Amino acid sequence: MTEPLLHLSDVHTHIGPYHILHGVDFAVPAGELTMLLGRNGAGKTTTLRTIMGLWQASSGRIRFDGRDITASSTPDIARSGIAYVPEAMGIFTDLTVRENIVLAARSGPVDRTRLDWILGLFPALKRFWNLPAGNLSGGQKQMLAIARAIAEPRRLLLIDEPTKGLAPVMVRSMIEAFRALKAAGETILLVEQNFYAASALGDNAVVMDDGRIVHSGTMSELVADAALQQHLLGLSLDAHQ
Ligand SMILES: Nc1ncnc2c1ncn2[C@@H]1O[C@H](COP(=O)(O)OP(=O)(O)OP(=O)(O)O)[C@@H](O)[C@H]1O
Ligand SMILES: [Mg+2]
Repeated sequence: MTEPLLHLSDVHTHIGPYHILHGVDFAVPAGELTMLLGRNGAGKTTTLRTIMGLWQASSGRIRFDGRDITASSTPDIARSGIAYVPEAMGIFTDLTVRENIVLAARSGPVDRTRLDWILGLFPALKRFWNLPAGNLSGGQKQMLAIARAIAEPRRLLLIDEPTKGLAPVMVRSMIEAFRALKAAGETILLVEQNFYAASALGDNAVVMDDGRIVHSGTMSELVADAALQQHLLGLSLDAHQ
């Protein structure tokens, strides 16, 4: 068996005096989309921040691409090829869409072919190309944040709740963009509360509760088992379409 691209084993994270992650174990296979699911406060964002080194794991191991990155600094982790799109997006509202994307590429101008590919994923951004990003809708801002994350080729994308608060039509556009990213072979770890989006996109599903992984398997297995969904997430697929 080949080693997964990312592997967390027995990861604990403390934030100040609080013990938030209690031994997180899961793997993200290369070229697949892994959904990280769980109720509010389960520890999903803390897990992404711990992978990025924004919180330091207090024990356990995080391996990425065959290397131990547990104690690496956030800039080193980013340089090793992991991009992180936090929930609060991180775009420059006073700069144009073009400037936002151009500034996201650290090692030189964004390759023209890549730019065309990115704008093909998020056609809405083309319309606002030379306008301040502050003019974009919430969903378009999310798309710009993802466009920034992929301005350069990356090995792994960590994305926190890209569909949060979006209207159904925008959720569908986001799903289409993620399908295209998957088709391009990107490896993605996606936090998602929208079970409809999760079931449409996930290859694998990892479910957290109270700082622990309580289930890992294929997304289709979870989609097919309403009782398991109810037990793990307290929701049913039908209720979230
Ligand atoms: N800076 C912080 N200081 C103290 N506690 C925190 C901090 N950040 C998160 N927590 C706590 O850690 C737990 C996990 O939070 P986290 O944000 O990782 O959950 P989540 O699964 O992303 O939730 P949501 O679905 O609401 O985004 C929660 O109990 C939260 O209150
Ligand atoms: Mg969160």
